[in-house]
Amino acid sequence: MPAKVVGVTGSPRASGNTDFAVNSVLEMLARERDASTELLALRDYHLKHCAGCRGCMTAKRCVIEGDDLDRMVQPLNEADVIIVGSPVYWNSPPGVMKDFMDRVHGWFVAGPIWEGKQAGIISVAADGGFESHEDALRGWLRYYGANVAAETRLLAREAGDLEANPREREKLDRFARDMADAIGQHSLISDA
Ligand SMILES: Cc1cc2nc3c(=O)[nH]c(=O)nc-3n(C[C@H](O)[C@H](O)[C@H](O)COP(=O)(O)O)c2cc1C
Repeated sequence: MPAKVVGVTGSPRASGNTDFAVNSVLEMLARERDASTELLALRDYHLKHCAGCRGCMTAKRCVIEGDDLDRMVQPLNEADVIIVGSPVYWNSPPGVMKDFMDRVHGWFVAGPIWEGKQAGIISVAADGGFESHEDALRGWLRYYGANVAAETRLLAREAGDLEANPREREKLDRFARDMADAIGQHSLISDA
């Protein structure tokens, strides 16, 4: 069975560096691993902010209604591999990404809902500030049980910078190869 790979782009900017990075990795995994791929662009969905109501702690699901949360989480629940790409905004993920992370708290009580999945993190910044950004994304994925198999830090500022920079693209290629290896391990487990 080909692996199902969902690439999340947490960038508010369509066709920017993060979109380019996530799409490149999805294309490579489809080509090299015959993976079925899907891009989840968080900015395209209607998502309310977490209200901090703590309703999920007793309801075991997010109690906010009237938005796209379930539609956004479903592809991740069905994925074998989750690639999260996000720009660095003030040393952390941007609001569109953070809102999604916060709302997935709806499954906090359920715990490791993404156990057995391989994950990868692509962070894009103009200069730096990667550490706290990666801590947040890594901690979030690991809380839900995903194994973070690879991470990469890419330097790019204006749209098109990443595509035009061979050194940064080499880092992206290496990340894609690491994820391809992780998919190889996944197939071995599911074929066993
Ligand atoms: C509000 C905002 C905050 C940013 N904060 C940082 C930062 O803390 N460190 C950094 O190196 N770049 C920062 N940047 C630059 C972006 O990370 C960079 O332009 C990145 O390429 C944007 O990704 P995109 O092309 O997917 O939109 C910031 C950009 C914006 C708009």
